[in-house]
Amino acid sequence: MRKRQTVTVSVPATTANLGPGFDCLGMALELYNTFRFTVPISDKELLSISVQGVDAHKVATDGRNLVYQSAAAIFEKAGKRPFPLQINQTNRIPVGSGLGSSSTAVLAGMLGANVLLGNPFTDAEILQFAVGEEGHPDNVAPALYGNLVLGVIDDGELYIEQIALPSLTAVVILPAFHLLTTEARAAMPSSVLLADAIFNASRTPLLIRALQTADYDKLAIAMQDKVHHQYRMPLIPGMKAAFAAARSAGARGVAISGAGPSLIAFAPDKHEEIAAAVTAVFATENLTSRSWILPVNSVGTHIE
Ligand code: HSE
Repeated sequence: MRKRQTVTVSVPATTANLGPGFDCLGMALELYNTFRFTVPISDKELLSISVQGVDAHKVATDGRNLVYQSAAAIFEKAGKRPFPLQINQTNRIPVGSGLGSSSTAVLAGMLGANVLLGNPFTDAEILQFAVGEEGHPDNVAPALYGNLVLGVIDDGELYIEQIALPSLTAVVILPAFHLLTTEARAAMPSSVLLADAIFNASRTPLLIRALQTADYDKLAIAMQDKVHHQYRMPLIPGMKAAFAAARSAGARGVAISGAGPSLIAFAPDKHEEIAAAVTAVFATENLTSRSWILPVNSVGTHIE
């Protein structure tokens, strides 16, 4: 018989790429998924997973559940036999939206299991495992640390730079359109033109500076991208017109959030107007939209 133990892990939404920072730059946003793990006192109790909240019906509640699989990976890495778990997940982040919902599941599963095992791994090790699972650091790193995070992978080693941000507000508009990250990645070529590489390489540091100083004039230039937008935009009905509508309504920096299909826009004001303008464009494609006005999150993941 074990002592009944409970741990709650809350992980924020993230927006990856922010235009030119493809696969290396991401920002945490003030919208949390919460995961409660309970270790039953006896091995006779079985795995039990319950999910409530936004898009709950899209989340597996059996052994295919990503939170459970990520927890099981940590048990295995620690050389421990997995014990039955009760997982209770409260979703606020839409699933398959470009807001890092799968990263919240991976991080929560790994961090929850690590705590239940008495913390055999450091946060940095857990992050490295999570990046291995996701393939790129631009969602999991800001989800863990909050704020803006630059993640560099060199020869398999992960280097993280956390960048504190002033108060900024993002508008996220999500059309009801199904787009898998794998599809959005498959649409990209395997190499890019030198001119496009220079376009992005020059804008990425400008983007960091523009966000640090909340300089919206710089942001309008710095969030432009030539590495992934041109290939992904045609996959999402109305996205090109949605960019134009967001800018006309007052947005200064506009990007596809992560691999899409949501659009993220930054502006000093007129957030409601931007959401309405983009929603109207997607409606012309017969797509309904959900939208959020979200401050930057500076705290990252917290564990109780
Ligand atoms: N950087 C990744 C991509 C994020 O754009 O494919 C996916 O969540």
